Amino acid sequence: MKIAKTIRSVRKLVRQARSKGKSVGLVPTMGALHRGHISLIEKAAKDSDFVVVSIFVNPTQFGPKEDFKKYPRPVQDDLNACRKAGADLVFAPSAKQMYPRQNLAWVSVEKLSEPLCGRFRPDHFRGVATVCTKLFNIVQPDLAFFGQKDAQQTLLVKQMVADLNMPLKIVVCPTVREKTGLAMSSRNHYLTPQEKIDAACLYKSLRKARQMAGAGIIDAQKIIAQMRKIITAAASAKIEYIEIVDAKTLCPIKKIDRPALVALAVRIGRTRLIDNIIIDSQK
Ligand code: PAF
Repeated sequence: MKIAKTIRSVRKLVRQARSKGKSVGLVPTMGALHRGHISLIEKAAKDSDFVVVSIFVNPTQFGPKEDFKKYPRPVQDDLNACRKAGADLVFAPSAKQMYPRQNLAWVSVEKLSEPLCGRFRPDHFRGVATVCTKLFNIVQPDLAFFGQKDAQQTLLVKQMVADLNMPLKIVVCPTVREKTGLAMSSRNHYLTPQEKIDAACLYKSLRKARQMAGAGIIDAQKIIAQMRKIITAAASAKIEYIEIVDAKTLCPIKKIDRPALVALAVRIGRTRLIDNIIIDSQK
């Protein structure tokens, strides 16, 4: 496995792979890799001949009061995990490499970046769309792999790729969970043992939503009320939002009468966690 720190070197190595007729898969990450990331790298290794993993804690997607500085950066563990999962190349640029001067060109995806997390993290999705555009331009992959845990991010990146005619396909992979149901996230590192137990309430509430919809209760507010009960029972949990929205447009819906995204953001102590499921009653 090769490691590239500069745009010039990653481009050269990708060009070499391409000249041998290899297809290129990209797994964009911010490091602190967990089993969710590993599943993306393994999928990339199955679907493409040359796997690039980018590790870059992107400053432009963090708000001024967010955890950019303390975000975990276990570099050696991440490199070992990439090697083991089948990566061919890790692109680990510095902030200076990615943003050498004041950034004036931004990519924004209207509408999809406004609801859900967008209400609480105003410039977050602009930062995500911009850094993904940069990574796609640098690596020029055929495929890029994202996790369903970041449902809003995946929809937005897909829309961006379609609207801007970017020549790659976005592959969305299932959320990987702990035994308790807690979705894998780099931010789980911040949780104390008790908070980790409390954090299982997110998925427990999502399971309740699925169970209610399965039993024919499709009124969104009724479902949200039951989810709220489950989450508020956990001592360290504070709800940021629980919403049921159209799974394609992210517009709020009153009834689950089409594919619906049930999404939530909850603070467990000082740690903000997100999770979601899709309920498709047609299936
Ligand atoms: O999902 C993430 O880890 C980040 O938002 C991404 C896609 C790597 C962009 O920085």
